[in-house]
Parts: sequence; structure tokens; C-alpha cells
Amino acid sequence: MERSRFILGLALTLLLTIATTPSECKYHSKTVPARRLKEKVTRLHFYLFDILSGTKPSALEIARANRTTDKSATPFGSLYAIDDPLREGPEPNSTVVGNAKGLYLSASQDPANLTIVMYADFGFTTGKFKGSSFSVFSRNPVAESLEREVAVVGGRGKFRLARGFIWLKTHYLNATNGDAILKAKVTLIHY
Ligand SMILES: *[C@@H]1O[C@H](CO)[C@@H](O)[C@H](O)[C@H]1NC(C)=O
Ligand SMILES: *[C@@H]1O[C@H](CO)[C@@H](O)[C@H](O)[C@H]1NC(C)=O
Ligand SMILES: *[C@@H]1O[C@H](CO)[C@@H](O)[C@H](O)[C@H]1NC(C)=O
Ligand SMILES: *[C@@H]1O[C@H](CO)[C@@H](O)[C@H](O)[C@H]1NC(C)=O
Repeated sequence: MERSRFILGLALTLLLTIATTPSECKYHSKTVPARRLKEKVTRLHFYLFDILSGTKPSALEIARANRTTDKSATPFGSLYAIDDPLREGPEPNSTVVGNAKGLYLSASQDPANLTIVMYADFGFTTGKFKGSSFSVFSRNPVAESLEREVAVVGGRGKFRLARGFIWLKTHYLNATNGDAILKAKVTLIHY
């Protein structure tokens, strides 16, 4: 009698433990299937002005490996902070529609094969997408071809949960000082 009561008690305790364990974990909610929202596609086009020269550069070198023998404008191991204007057209006085803020790193050991890795947030300051932005985390093999694809991995605001890509094409490049104007054609899938 005592023994069976003990076993019953043990079973009840176990059951209670199992039943109460999930609610003891307070740092997360229950995982449920995501609501199926309709995906939308938005295409954007603009020019990115990456200006290193002059008194008001939009890209600033913030670090450089001191062992490099690379004499190019953007040697391997150099890191830049950017606040690059995005303009409607390629002319320097064309209307600004947003900016790309973040970092890029020169990441090729071969100076003849410039590759940069971009960690940047592209935001808009005008129009339907004012206040929204998308995130680029990607290599940009600048020397490989005139047109390169970079990956879009996320977004904010109207671009929440975005993914997609940008076709970047060099419109202008001064290899001596590193100034560049890039034509960007963006395809984004978002909600
Ligand atoms: C590079 O860094 C090393 C280690 O800090 C230092 O000894 C050397 O003097 C530096 N070289 C130059 C050219 O700044
Ligand atoms: C930009 O400058 C060019 C000449 O330099 C001028 O013809 C054009 O009207 C200007 N555009 C704007 C939007 O100010
Ligand atoms: C640059 O890289 C490409 C592909 O990775 C290669 O075919 C080419 O030979 C490289 N160029 C130089 C100058 O090393
Ligand atoms: C490229 O940059 C160099 C160094 O700043 C400058 O002397 C030259 O005039 C620039 N070239 C063009 C076409 O702007």
C-alpha cells in the first residue's frame, strides 16, 4: 500500500515536471508556423557615389594593415567607413534619394584583382521608401567584370525580411584616388 502510493506520487511528480518545464523557460515563446504573407518584388535603381578624394569625402579609410606592400588606392587590409549618397542619376548634382552607410574592406591579396567585401545598410530619404533600408553583406569582385552581383540579406521598415541582389556596374572610376560612381539595379523580395 505504502509502496504503490509512493509510485503514484513519483509518477505525479514526474508528470507535473514534464508539464511545467516549458513554462519555466521565460526567454522565448512557443514556436508556431509562420503566417503565410504574400511576398512582393520591388526594383530600385540609383547611382552610388563613393568619393574618397576632396575635403568632404563620403568614404574614409579608418584602418590599414601596416605590413602591406600594395601601393594601390585601396590595398588589401584597408577598411573604409562610408556614408555614400545614392543619387537618381550619375551627375554629381543629381537628386539624392538616400545613402549607403557602413563599411567595406579591401579583401584580395592580389592588387590586380581588387575585391571588396561590403557590410552596408542602404536607406532612402525620400519617396515611398523613405525611412526604410536594406542590408548588404557581400563580396564585390570589382576587378572581375564591369557588372557584379552583390547579395541583399535583410531589411527594415517596408523592406522587413528582404532578400535579393544588386547588379553593380562601374559608371566612373578614378584608379588613382579611388573615387567611383556605381550604377545600381536592385531586386528585392519582401513582405
Ligand atoms: C607596423 O607595426 C609594427 C608592430 O606594431 C611596428 O613594429 C612597425 O614599426 C609598424 N611599421 C610601420 C611602417 O608603421
Ligand atoms: C546639373 O548641372 C548641369 C550643368 O553642370 C546643369 O545643366 C543641370 O541643370 C544641373 N541639374 C540640376 C538638377 O541641378
Ligand atoms: C584575377 O582573378 C581571376 C579569377 O579569379 C583570374 O582568372 C585572373 O588571372 C586574376 N588576375 C590576375 C592579374 O591575377
Ligand atoms: C584622378 O585622381 C587623381 C588624383 O587625385 C587626379 O589627379 C586626377 O585628375 C583624377 N582624374 C580624373 C579624370 O578626375
